[in-house]
Amino acid sequence: MTGRPAPTQVEVRAVGADDGEALRVFFGAVPDGDRTFFREDVLRPGVVEGWVGRPDQRRLVALVDGVVAGHAGVLRGAPLSEHVGELRLVVDPAWRRRGLGRLLAQRAVHEAADMGLTKLVVEVIAEQAPTVAMFEGIGFQIEGRLRGHVRSPAGDTHDLLVLAHHGVPGLAESIPVPDGAMGPDGS
Ligand SMILES: CC(C)(COP(=O)(O)OP(=O)(O)OC[C@H]1O[C@@H](n2cnc3c(N)ncnc32)[C@H](O)[C@@H]1OP(=O)(O)O)[C@@H](O)C(=O)NCCC(=O)NCCS
Repeated sequence: MTGRPAPTQVEVRAVGADDGEALRVFFGAVPDGDRTFFREDVLRPGVVEGWVGRPDQRRLVALVDGVVAGHAGVLRGAPLSEHVGELRLVVDPAWRRRGLGRLLAQRAVHEAADMGLTKLVVEVIAEQAPTVAMFEGIGFQIEGRLRGHVRSPAGDTHDLLVLAHHGVPGLAESIPVPDGAMGPDGS
């Protein structure tokens, strides 16, 4: 046989009741430092299942050829900040730099708009310049720096940047809902 390999199929959809085990396998492959951003023990049975059907959050999963490779969550703020959502995003290290993170972030913006949110924030370790650049490329701006806010198990501390977008409905309108096929190299 000749020619290009078949395009990799990427599907982004809402996390469903049957996704618990596959998501735990996924989170198990994510470095501890990335996983702890979730502030929940996502490896504990029942935690992922508890996400399904909650009105205050939307949870997305990215599947590459049917296997979980990324996750995004949009979590509505407490009552006085219920117009604000927090975006949490993680991609399997084996699938990074192929566009999945941006795809999930863009889809999350649409979810946030659908939830009626107007502001969306995301927290990024200050040293993660490429991640900051990715969110700036979507339209987020750095809104704050929390100094020494993150401490690694080894004890070294890092600044945390809060990036925000204040016009979620307009942002969603400006982002076409991306489709999900990509080549094996992410093209
Ligand atoms: C942030 C994260 C989700 C990005 O996922 P990803 O699938 O690699 O992102 P993409 O492939 O869509 O990259 C989009 C752009 O981000 C930038 N980028 C992302 N990672 C990069 C890296 N390691 N080096 C250089 N640029 C990078 C690039 O501009 C890239 O665009 P390009 O490929 O056209 O150059 C992933 O690195 C991750 O899970 N990190 C740990 C968790 C985290 O920090 N989440 C964010 C805060 S909740």
